[in-house]
Amino acid sequence: MKVIIVSDKQEMGKVAADLIEEDMAKKTPYVMGLATGTTPVPLYQEFIRRNKETGLDFSTVITFNLDEYVGLDPDHDQSYRYFMNKELFDHVNINKKNTFVPPGNAEDLSAAGAQYEEAIRMAGGIDYQVLGIGSNGHIGFNEPGSSLSSRTRKVKLTESTITDNSRMFEKKEDVPTEAITMGNGTILDSRRVLLMANGENKADAVANSIEGPVTATVPASSLQLHQNITWIITQDAAGKLKLEW
Ligand code: PGA
Repeated sequence: MKVIIVSDKQEMGKVAADLIEEDMAKKTPYVMGLATGTTPVPLYQEFIRRNKETGLDFSTVITFNLDEYVGLDPDHDQSYRYFMNKELFDHVNINKKNTFVPPGNAEDLSAAGAQYEEAIRMAGGIDYQVLGIGSNGHIGFNEPGSSLSSRTRKVKLTESTITDNSRMFEKKEDVPTEAITMGNGTILDSRRVLLMANGENKADAVANSIEGPVTATVPASSLQLHQNITWIITQDAAGKLKLEW
């Protein structure tokens, strides 16, 4: 496990982009696992800048997003498909046909989960999975208690996640209560994983995940079992780590 402590979220985005760009040069097509939320935005801004200024090429990149709210259509302005188009895909030379987000509006979510797993397999697996972390230690929408070997499926959101995410909605009642998410097991199958965290409100989750026991109660602690995990965390989010990393 590698832990990189950075001074601010801009540096976090640049360090993450460096790691992924270096790996992208090794393989075509390149398969990225992507995340939504405020944390990966500096990385996406850096991808856009490099695409325009230094020719970082997305034409053969395939992407799989971690999760989507149940019940929101892709053009809903709070859907994760909408977010990804707005924050990244609309601004780089990616073929949108090669960008996948779990279908939150599928009639049969269980079948949709299995199909999503199959699509990842058909693409050859995920080369680099980008993650944020919830203040409760979730990754994707794998909430505390999620099996460490879980696969893409429908889940219920916890009260703490609904409260955290309500800042994006007009009122808390508008936040969907269910989502479809890659499982912890799906995430652990990725060749490389990069988890970014910034902000003091993530400090407990970060310390518990890196230095605590591996437990379903803190889903991000499952990453201790991965051979190629890099944490990029700002000083405030690293504030509760006890060891010298
Ligand atoms: P955030 O969310 O990046 O908006 O803090 C992260 C997460 O919930 O995984």
